[in-house]
Order: sequence, then structure tokens, then C-alpha cells
Amino acid sequence: MSYLDKKSIRDIDFTGKKAIVRVDFNVPMKDGKITDDTRIRAALPTIHYLLEQHAAVILMSHLGRPKGEPKAEFSLKPVADRLDILLNQSVFFAPDCVGAEVEKMALELRPGQVLLLENLRFHAEEEKNAQDFAAALAGLADVYVNDAFGTAHRAHASTAGIAAYLPAVAGFLIEKEIKSLGRAVENPAHPYTAIIGGAKVSDKILVIENLLQKVDRLLIGGGMANTFLAAQGKDMQASLVEKDRLAWAQELLHSPAADKLMLPVDVIAAEAFDADAAHQACGVDEIPAGWMALDIGPQTRQRFADAVSDAETIVWNGPLGVFEMDAFAAGTLEMAHAVAASNAFSVVGGGDSVSAVHKAGVAEQISHISTGGGASLEFLEGKILPGIAALNDR
Ligand code: 3PG
Repeated sequence: MSYLDKKSIRDIDFTGKKAIVRVDFNVPMKDGKITDDTRIRAALPTIHYLLEQHAAVILMSHLGRPKGEPKAEFSLKPVADRLDILLNQSVFFAPDCVGAEVEKMALELRPGQVLLLENLRFHAEEEKNAQDFAAALAGLADVYVNDAFGTAHRAHASTAGIAAYLPAVAGFLIEKEIKSLGRAVENPAHPYTAIIGGAKVSDKILVIENLLQKVDRLLIGGGMANTFLAAQGKDMQASLVEKDRLAWAQELLHSPAADKLMLPVDVIAAEAFDADAAHQACGVDEIPAGWMALDIGPQTRQRFADAVSDAETIVWNGPLGVFEMDAFAAGTLEMAHAVAASNAFSVVGGGDSVSAVHKAGVAEQISHISTGGGASLEFLEGKILPGIAALNDR
């Protein structure tokens, strides 16, 4: 399957039709308020286009993990209110996503109007990809559009099952994500540098294995670097090390691809996992007894920056230290600046690395910031995303 062979909203005449659009409005919330509306904004091009094409637009999404029951704190009502402002038009909000009342609201929706359904995950059938539930959602509209890239790695009723009942096409966000991430996976320009960080190597094994076949250099930082360093025989003291992954790391370090790997040569070690803990830069062989590595050190930062400076393609997933604590943020923030300063086609995915790029103030200089965390990771692992596979071929 080639992702680029999927039909898109450009292939459909929407005049007078009802489009049911799966979006990923799973936005971060605090005390009932949206703290970052990037994902809502990312869906706007598709919504605007459908409205211009005289479609009636029914939007559906999940928010959080309510586990199959209605829970007030996971209501999409605040999203409807935000959308109202962003679209500069009234957005109708349905009290549920299926049932008689919703059917009536969908039936009465006119071309140019927008209706947002309540959280899909208030029904356990959504995550079970139950056929009846998918059919009930499909019954609300004439065409299915998937623009929820962030949820495309889930085979749920609204992302996969529904495609069996309606013409099913990709929205502009999915198209853009596939094009940009695809450029990093298929025929990337070289030199190609990947940067992989995050706390645990166990979450990134497949992406490391897949990217190693494509890149020229793979930089490893974050907590997961400790497991590699321990596999080299370094004494990582109290650092997070995944003992059950040591054998895998050792095998990789002895494989022909090991030449491409770049590990930290120094770290910022701290007395405790605490924002105010005593800390110092030291070589990876010199971590004080009982201390832990919480960021890459200055020499490593320089080496990593050099490794992206001449790159033509860069992919970055995962922070290089505990960047939410200022004392351990330098590695990640300097990496963000180095990626931004390069002339490479750069792709950043994964919630934490995306926040780092924003925190560093360099988001504008990144070629593509993915709206998908797990989805972008699975794409880079080379997996087929069910939400995209389910769409109609051209
Ligand atoms: C995400 O935030 O990664 C997506 O919205 C998917 O959410 P989920 O991990 O709860 O399925």
C-alpha cells in the first residue's frame, strides 16, 4: 500500500452532501480550559474547504481516555466553543455522538453549517471498533473524511470501521502529514540524521531498528541513552537503565549499523530526580556515586549539533533530557536550535519534542511539526496506520 494512492477530499463533489469528519481534537486541558489548540487549528483547512464546497460538516473526535463512559471532564464542549471562535461562525454541539437526538441534529444540518459530536469514547464500542457503532456514525452522513492523523494508528470505529459504510477519503492534514513524514521515510535526501530521545528505550526499539536502515547518523539522548551506555559497560550509577533491554542494546552496538550510532560522551548528572537537585556536567565514566544522568552534557551537545549542521534530512522524536526542569533542559533546547539552524528538511514528532521546539521559540524554522505522537512514531517505525489504510484507493 502506498499512502499517496489514497483518495482525498479533492476527489469528491461535496455540494449538498453531509461530510462526517474524524478529527483529532484530543487537546491538552487544564481545569476545563484548552491549554494548546494546535490540533484544532490543524483541522481548519479541511473544515474551511468543506464549507466552501457547500457541505454540511459533522465533526467527531475523542478527548482523553474516559474508558467507555460519559465523564464531564472529557466533554468536547470547550472545543466546540473554541471552534466557534476560530471559524467565526456558530458551531452546533450534540450531547452525544449517536442516538435519536444526534440523528435529528445531523438531519437538520444545512450546507455551510458545522456540528461537533460529543466524545466518541463515551461509548466502549468506539475503541472496540464495533460494526453497529461504526454504521450508526456512518448513518449521519454521505461521505467520511479522516483528518485525524494523531489517531490514525488506532483501529477504532471512527478511524477505521466507518470506512466500510461510506466513500472514505483523506483530509488535508492527513495528506500533509503523510507527505512530510513520507519524505523522511521514503527516498530521503542525504546526509540524513535522526535524533531519538525519551525516557525509555523499550518505547523506541522499532523506530531505532527501522531508521537505522535509512539514516547516516542516529543520535541517542534522553533516559534511553543510559541503557546503551550501560550496555557498553559504563557505570550509570542511579540513572534509569532498562536492564531487560541491555541484551538488545548490546546486540545493536555489535551490529554493522553501530557505526551510525552516536551516544552521549558526557551528561548532566544530578543527586536526585528533582528540579533543585545538586548537579554537574561529567563524562559518562565519571558519574558521582549514587547520582543520575538527567541531560546530555556540553560536549555531547556540540557533537550532536555538528551532526545535524550538514544534514539534508532530519527526523527528531523525543527529548534529550528532563527538559521540563530548567536545570536539565539545555540539551533538548540546544538541539532544537541546531535543528532549526540547519538547512535540512526537518520533521519533529512526539508531544515532548514538539513542546521543546515551541519552548525554544524555533517552531517556524522546522519544516514539519507532526500533530501525531504515537501515530508519527508508528509511521517512522514503518507500520501501516489503520486509519489511513482504511481509506479508498485512488
Ligand atoms: C494522541 O494524543 O496521541 C491521540 O489523540 C491518540 O490518543 P490515544 O493514545 O488515547 O489513543
